[in-house]
Amino acid sequence: MPALNHFGLDIGTHSLKAVQLSGSSEQPGFVAAGQIPTPPHTVSAETEESVEALAATVKTLHKEARITTNKVVAALPESQIFTRVIELPPLSAAETRHAISWEAEQYVPIPMSEVRLDWQVLGKTVAGDKMEVLLVAAPIILVERFIKTIKAAGLTVVGLETEITAVVRSLVQRSEGAPTTMVVSIGASTTDLSIVTGGRINFTRSIATGGVALARGVAQELGFELDQATEYMKTYGLDATSLEGKVMQAIKPVFDVIVNEIRRSLAFYATKHPDLPVKRVVVTGGTAKLSGLVIYLAEAIGLEVQIGNPWEGVSLPSSIAPKLEEEGTSYAVAVGLALKQETK
Ligand SMILES: Nc1ncnc2c1ncn2[C@@H]1O[C@H](COP(=O)(O)OP(=O)(O)OP(=O)(O)O)[C@@H](O)[C@H]1O
Ligand SMILES: [Mg+2]
Repeated sequence: MPALNHFGLDIGTHSLKAVQLSGSSEQPGFVAAGQIPTPPHTVSAETEESVEALAATVKTLHKEARITTNKVVAALPESQIFTRVIELPPLSAAETRHAISWEAEQYVPIPMSEVRLDWQVLGKTVAGDKMEVLLVAAPIILVERFIKTIKAAGLTVVGLETEITAVVRSLVQRSEGAPTTMVVSIGASTTDLSIVTGGRINFTRSIATGGVALARGVAQELGFELDQATEYMKTYGLDATSLEGKVMQAIKPVFDVIVNEIRRSLAFYATKHPDLPVKRVVVTGGTAKLSGLVIYLAEAIGLEVQIGNPWEGVSLPSSIAPKLEEEGTSYAVAVGLALKQETK
């Protein structure tokens, strides 16, 4: 198995994270990791200035985290791409290509000439008469902007994949025989949901609610500025006993948007795969640190809820282990990217 010789770069709207591992995806060794705040409004902006500002920050992170390679595997933000599990009749490879492009046209709201299509045949549907295909359509302009940013930072892109693919690799696919799992990744702007069974991604969804929306809820309800509201959100979270539950009450309606999306996704999945019910939920992303989240979510959906640990099986240097473990949920995407094994 070829050795891991790149680093993973997760370009989030709140912060950029970098992780470098050595060895193989089965026995990874720690090399370096770090994160740095994202310059405001640069991730989805298309101007030259924002590309430059982002590239400069990537360069700083690469240096400060002491990454020792220039090869990068980066994640495309789930919120800006179109991922879907579709059903097709059993077809030959050539027919599949044609059918996929036709299917993609049905729901991707931009012309096919402007997207890069990628897909993976997952297997047969429960009824057995169709095949399930995981389809990813990435706007070419987005892919080009990512490559341009990383090049401008003096680095080389050796791989691009979606955030969900990366998170599932770091949190689920490494534990053999894991039960059917829903992964909920709550970042600053976006929450990504996926359902994984037998190591395969069978369902994905992304919604535009995350930590920033929760903090906005606190700001509006309690009359704070956003920065102060963010601090209150981080300190009290979904804890009903602190401050007479005022922060919790402010967060609850926004957090319930996420809970409802989880419920809807579980219900949809149950109709497609009644034989493989979801057994547990693994939560990750910076906002997974919200206090009281595990209990609140477990009660709301009636399933076992765990916080994912991307550092599982990676031995961290003792000097930085506490910090990296404390920030573990933020690193799930970057660890997954760092673990991507080249297929040769
Ligand atoms: N202790 C905490 N409790 C609640 N939220 C927290 C805590 N610590 C950090 N956060 C929130 O986590 C978010 C950052 O998470 P993360 O690093 O996953 O975001 P990102 O990857 O940059 O965002 P996105 O993927 O949505 O673009 C921020 O909104 C921050 O307020
Ligand atoms: Mg993120």
